[in-house]
Amino acid sequence: MTDEQMHFVAPGRVNIIGEHTDYNGGYVLPATIDKYTQVSIGHGQKNSVRVHSEEEGFCEFNTASFARSGDWCDYVRGIFWVLKEQKGVSFPGLDLTVVSSVPQGSGLSSSAALEVAVLVALDEFLQLGLKKEEKYLLARKAENEFVGVMCGIMDQFAAVMGKEKCAVFLDTQTMDYEYVPLDLGNYVFMVVDSKVHHSLSSGMYNKRREEAAAALKELGKSSYRETTITQLLMSRKSLRPENYRRAMHIISENERVLDAVRSLRSSNYENLGRFLLQSHESLAYDYEVSCEELDYIVDLLKGQPSVTGCRMIGGGFGGSVLAICEKDEAKPVTEYVKTRYFEKYEMSAEVFLAKPGGGARRVEKPLLKIRRGLP
Ligand code: GLA
Repeated sequence: MTDEQMHFVAPGRVNIIGEHTDYNGGYVLPATIDKYTQVSIGHGQKNSVRVHSEEEGFCEFNTASFARSGDWCDYVRGIFWVLKEQKGVSFPGLDLTVVSSVPQGSGLSSSAALEVAVLVALDEFLQLGLKKEEKYLLARKAENEFVGVMCGIMDQFAAVMGKEKCAVFLDTQTMDYEYVPLDLGNYVFMVVDSKVHHSLSSGMYNKRREEAAAALKELGKSSYRETTITQLLMSRKSLRPENYRRAMHIISENERVLDAVRSLRSSNYENLGRFLLQSHESLAYDYEVSCEELDYIVDLLKGQPSVTGCRMIGGGFGGSVLAICEKDEAKPVTEYVKTRYFEKYEMSAEVFLAKPGGGARRVEKPLLKIRRGLP
């Protein structure tokens, strides 16, 4: 890489509440965290894009044709592909170095952080002049149509639009959003990574998406927002039991997001915690996207008097639990969860306190240390 390289970061996120609602036209409440994927970009060899990831290794592809290869680099190729397809961009030879502190497969949106970091790097380095809205829409299109994961808009939206010390309350039906200040006072957001790693591309995520659409069809509605819990309860006997439970999660989760926003606005972290617990139950039993290890972590945490509530976050089938914990008790709670988890599964859970971060941006100097980089 030459001296003329530029550095960009995009954040991971926790989703406070509103899980599996974004592809169902519902509400979400993510907050970006101070874990980032960083892309350093500079001119490279003619006709070639060379990408070195400190975590994943090396890949190289041609500047003019982008074929899917089924590995991590598809998230990078996908962004080149979408810019060529949608914006007619042609690329010079480029060298990219990627470093990330967003743990992968942990439900903290590492894929969107990588996509958005590459996108904002290309946007500014090549002076494409993309609007913010285009950025998250293009990044999602790349994941849907190139990588093949039918994700909703939440993660790419959060990575682009995230703001310091705020959660974003987004209505994915209208794309209206509001920043909700995150002043946690005597509480902290604790993230417990179960280290059970899911792969959204493995198909279960896309399957839930299809099931949610099937349940809506059986309900005879065109949007989950057109129906209420009471109406759903009244149609219970006419619906397939699985469809009933999928719909129950989506409709009740939307209500919980509205309740959670109210709690957050009045700094009522005790109440907020209760909604998180209800959300977990709903995800585990009605939507069936949790797993034994996540349920165990939730059980451990909810038995702690200093934890107001907790739930699995992200796509599920592994990943992390988000807990709201009293600040002064975070250390003993961490030790307790780690010890008990290890005793049961002989696996070390990783626990950290998530500080609210900002959105994707250019940084003058690398935020994350580049150990090797490209030759
Ligand atoms: C993943 C997807 C999001 C969202 C969540 C579940 O993180 O990328 O779009 O659907 O799962 O809420």
